[in-house]
Amino acid sequence: MTAAPLLQVEDLHVEFATHGGTVRAVRGVDFSVDSNRTLAIVGESGCGKSVSVQSIMGLIPVPPGRIGPGSALLRGQEILGNNVVNGRDVRGSEIGMIFQDPMTSLNPTMTIGAQIAEPLQVHRGYGAGRAREEAIRLLESCRIPEARKRAGQYPFEFSGGMLQRAMIAMAISCKPALLIADEPTTALDVTIQSQILDLMRDLQRETGMAIILITHDLGVVARMADEVLVMYAGEVVEKGGVDDVFYRSAHPYTLGLKAAMPSNRDDSAQVLTPIDGSPPDLFAPPGGCGYFARCPYAMQACEDNHPESFDLHADHFARCWLHHEDCDVEATDVHRTTASE
Ligand SMILES: Nc1ncnc2c1ncn2[C@@H]1O[C@H](COP(=O)(O)OP(=O)(O)OP(=O)(O)O)[C@@H](O)[C@H]1O
Ligand code: SF4
Ligand SMILES: [Mg+2]
Repeated sequence: MTAAPLLQVEDLHVEFATHGGTVRAVRGVDFSVDSNRTLAIVGESGCGKSVSVQSIMGLIPVPPGRIGPGSALLRGQEILGNNVVNGRDVRGSEIGMIFQDPMTSLNPTMTIGAQIAEPLQVHRGYGAGRAREEAIRLLESCRIPEARKRAGQYPFEFSGGMLQRAMIAMAISCKPALLIADEPTTALDVTIQSQILDLMRDLQRETGMAIILITHDLGVVARMADEVLVMYAGEVVEKGGVDDVFYRSAHPYTLGLKAAMPSNRDDSAQVLTPIDGSPPDLFAPPGGCGYFARCPYAMQACEDNHPESFDLHADHFARCWLHHEDCDVEATDVHRTTASE
């Protein structure tokens, strides 16, 4: 019998009541992640990446948010709507989270050291002195030079890359089983981005934590992920191992994302093809395929019938009618073109 995954999310739904109507932000999302593994979640702006993980972290304001139906099991225990499981606060203790903009989650009036020490005092019952020493050790492990001096400084005294390291130190302070990183490097230049990604991977090797990494950058996905979840308009449209999703892409939207991404080829004639159009209105999502209006392979049946998730082979799924046994059209990598072609 295979062990249950560390985190198993099934049929997750999240919506928001607004003056304009109900935004159906997340519509039946399934995924799982295991210790020592990294799951990347990709998809364009507004597709529900952040809302999905925020609902797991208990960060969705209710109201206007409404979560459910669905379930999120952490080691088999329901955490949707339950912040405390087995006497431990899931948020900050079992699951750490880092965001794109550290300044939104750091307190500008507290020293960095005090902010890292706080969860250790709250969740682990450390005394002030022990928590302060552990905060310094954590800053060192996140490669902050002169950690003891830095611990006594305020967020405004840190550069963007250093702040992100401090955020990581805070997120991992209670040795979480899962680290969720929502666009952690988008605001950083490429050198610092690379260092932060290396740091996350090294920490994973040391601690065995699982990572969920949300990113727009397929280069980051290729470098970091074991598994990839491609989201579109509040749904998972493709899911699989990183090689499957990159080299055997099975959904036209994934092909579109790849065509819009620069490759590593030394090819100055490379042409990037943006995906025309925009995602559907989540106030009234289409009954058929959400990608219908933008899909180069769209068939009449796609407009009216919501695609099933087709199981392609081991742990690789795509929600697209092209994989129906009665369909003989095959999605190929037609989006990537070069000027010489
Ligand atoms: N508090 C809220 N009230 C109303 N709608 C919301 C709220 N929070 C999120 N939404 C809507 O939910 C949808 C999904 O948002 P989400 O933040 O998850 O997108 P995302 O995929 O993370 O995008 P990005 O890449 O821009 O961060 C969007 O349509 C967004 O406008
Ligand atoms: S179901 Fe149809 S419209 Fe949707 S992605 Fe597949 S081919 Fe395109
Ligand atoms: Mg987001």
